Amino acid sequence: EERGPHACSITGLTHLAGLTRVTSDILQELDPSQPAGLGKGVSLSHTGKKRRMLLWVLVLLILCGFLWNYKGQLKITDITDKYIFITGCDSGFGKLAAKTFDKKGFRVIAACLTESGSRALKAETSERLHTVLLDVTDADHVKRTAQWVKNHVGEKGLWGLINNAGVLGVLAPTDWLTVEDYREPIEVNLFGLINVTLNMLPLVKKARGRVINVSSIGGRLAFVGGGYIPSKYAVEGFNDCLRRDMKAFGVHVSCIEPGLFKTELSDPVKSTEKKLAIWKHLSPDIKQQYGEDYIEKSLSKLKVTTTSFLNMDLSLVVECMDHALTSLFPKTRYAAGKDAKTFWIPLSHMPTVLQDFLLLKQKTELANPKAV
Ligand SMILES: NC(=O)c1ccc[n+]([C@@H]2O[C@H](COP(=O)([O-])OP(=O)(O)OC[C@H]3O[C@@H](n4cnc5c(N)ncnc54)[C@H](OP(=O)(O)O)[C@@H]3O)[C@@H](O)[C@H]2O)c1
Repeated sequence: EERGPHACSITGLTHLAGLTRVTSDILQELDPSQPAGLGKGVSLSHTGKKRRMLLWVLVLLILCGFLWNYKGQLKITDITDKYIFITGCDSGFGKLAAKTFDKKGFRVIAACLTESGSRALKAETSERLHTVLLDVTDADHVKRTAQWVKNHVGEKGLWGLINNAGVLGVLAPTDWLTVEDYREPIEVNLFGLINVTLNMLPLVKKARGRVINVSSIGGRLAFVGGGYIPSKYAVEGFNDCLRRDMKAFGVHVSCIEPGLFKTELSDPVKSTEKKLAIWKHLSPDIKQQYGEDYIEKSLSKLKVTTTSFLNMDLSLVVECMDHALTSLFPKTRYAAGKDAKTFWIPLSHMPTVLQDFLLLKQKTELANPKAV
């Protein structure tokens, strides 16, 4: 990485030459009638030709894979004069990202929601890192912060904007909820993210930099009721429009889709408390349909899901942010976490009938769905 793109190209070309030599040897092995140097005036049997064609296709695929991988390893230089702004740095991915990128040499501006979060982060980072207090749902606050960032970064502009702040809101079956239950996650995760982006965009355009939106596998598959999933689906839509609109300005836009990670947001105790508070105020009709032991049964399901899916290593998400910030060719989407890579994202490409089958199997059974 430190050796820069040229060193990388030389290593890449050496590998490529090696690969071509090996291919030639394999072909020679498979078809000894063929001289080394391939395809010079020797007629081949039909099956021989077919075999060679298949082999070339295979080689082409390997080459494409190799080039794709190689392209992903090319890095930008001069990290130390680049400013990045991250929201939601009090805890979780945001805090780890602020610490990691500060250590790496970026000029980090970390937005925290609380004074205590900001103090704790300051205590663990270098003097280069600046914290600002920011509630992404407060439009005036966002405007003032963008003005402060503009003065701070000057002509350099903003290399990276990482939209990370988010809340879970209430997760519960849809017919338990009111429209108010949807408001908070949509305000924070969607409108907050859009407003921060719109205010910072001129600075990112100036640096021909990067916007990184932290979405979720919940932006690809709807597996639970509440405002979180609609907010993340909308983030994906906003992300894609932004990516295409910013292309002409040389601004890369990437979306990160983490699976389930152990952070404050995913704390099962907190989400169960919220669900219980809603359950207490449900009508007797709904309680009868779902059954008095519904919460208990859904808790044991939640335990199984949590133990089989939960990722403990938050750095997997920060590595995706890192690639999106420092690669010469950032990806448009990053899946983070084993569950996201092996289950959620592949499932999101499957037919709806299969998605419904697998996701419904994970739902808690209702006691009397016909008692309506
Ligand atoms: N953990 C997961 O399993 C998971 C999976 C997929 C996606 N994500 C996404 O990852 C992002 C980070 O979440 P996390 O898991 O790291 O959870 P987290 O530790 O709770 O971090 C969320 C951060 O956002 C801050 N925040 C909340 N409301 C805010 C507001 N109105 N304005 C500004 N900041 C606000 C929180 O501040 P306080 O700590 O002071 O409340 C906290 O610092 C979120 O967008 C989340 O949707 C998480």
